[in-house]
Amino acid sequence: MTKVSLKEGISWVGVIDWNIRDFHDYVTSCGTSYNAYLIQDEKTALVDTVKATFCNELIAHISELTTSLEKVDYIIVNHVEMDHSSGLPIIAKLAKNAKIYATARGREELIKHYGAEFERVETVKTGDKISLGKKTLTFLEAPMLHWPDSMFTYVVEDKVLMPNDAFGQHLASSGRFDDEVDQVTLMDEALTYYSNILTPFAPLIVKKIQEVIEMQLPIDIIAPSHGIIWRKDPMKIVNAYMDWATGKTVKPKVAIVFDTMWDSTNKMARAISNGIASQGIESKLFKLRCTENTDIVTEITNSKIVLVGSPTLNNGMFPSVSMFLTYITGLKPKGKLWGFFGSYGWGGGAVRGMVKMAKEAGFEVIEPNVELKWVPTEEEIKKCFDYGVQITQKIKT
Ligand code: FEO
Repeated sequence: MTKVSLKEGISWVGVIDWNIRDFHDYVTSCGTSYNAYLIQDEKTALVDTVKATFCNELIAHISELTTSLEKVDYIIVNHVEMDHSSGLPIIAKLAKNAKIYATARGREELIKHYGAEFERVETVKTGDKISLGKKTLTFLEAPMLHWPDSMFTYVVEDKVLMPNDAFGQHLASSGRFDDEVDQVTLMDEALTYYSNILTPFAPLIVKKIQEVIEMQLPIDIIAPSHGIIWRKDPMKIVNAYMDWATGKTVKPKVAIVFDTMWDSTNKMARAISNGIASQGIESKLFKLRCTENTDIVTEITNSKIVLVGSPTLNNGMFPSVSMFLTYITGLKPKGKLWGFFGSYGWGGGAVRGMVKMAKEAGFEVIEPNVELKWVPTEEEIKKCFDYGVQITQKIKT
């Protein structure tokens, strides 16, 4: 492998996973990478490992830079999720002289994942430092970004921040740096990643970024654990995260998410969309069985209103709608308005079920909702159109 150098003595030794398309139900159309970094000074530190299935590649990359894994003095575990740590048991056996560091929660999780041999992990907390000689590593706990164990590692003299999952993207590419890849793809994938992984933690993101600013850590490079490394303009992704987390990029537009059985709910969705368009407001329709939840959630990040439509099946909502609501109520995007519509043949139940689920998640629901029986009449289509018009007033006011 051509050496990938971030700074003198700091190398990328990760692996690229070109073919992954399902990352715990997040559809990764562009693959991903698992980034690990080797920092060589008087002492050598490995920051994070990779998925166990790719561990041989990690070992090969490290071996190109050092004569033996026994030369690794420290292994830093920024995060225990298995895409970063499942290679650790293999690496820890080869790097048998290495001390392993994680947060206290990280140590607990490592023992539970990989057994008692990880009782030897030493714990670090915010502000702790490890000297490698001329270089110093310092740590910043980042609980829930995005697991309780998460932390950032910062190389003080080189001004390199390794924030693990934060600021990443599921993007496999031959370029390793932000100046080597297409900028539109990069920011699209960064938004998709933020939307599907970090949305629930928006307030914590704002707080953590403010904390880093207050610590006055100069940052030359942000080296996350997935995707490209930000060296040309590291603040671009920090500012984007602040904008996404505070809702600054939300546009006056409506995402209409629905499924349909015999086309009635589809007709409703289109009529509502026409009503919205008549007021000069943008809307997008997403039929659930034609669109990945991953992409819908990304669209929702920058939409003010979300309308969800479902036919009634067996007195409840359609299964695809139920799956979508399970996903989105878990992600809990903040500051949205939610409306519901649907059709039924007998006694109804889909709209009632959707509203209940949304309210239980703390979503702000626009009422009344729209429901109709069997196939929409012309009058009912007009009612849906008018509902779309009324929805735009929520945006305008
Ligand atoms: Fe990339 Fe939370 O793991």
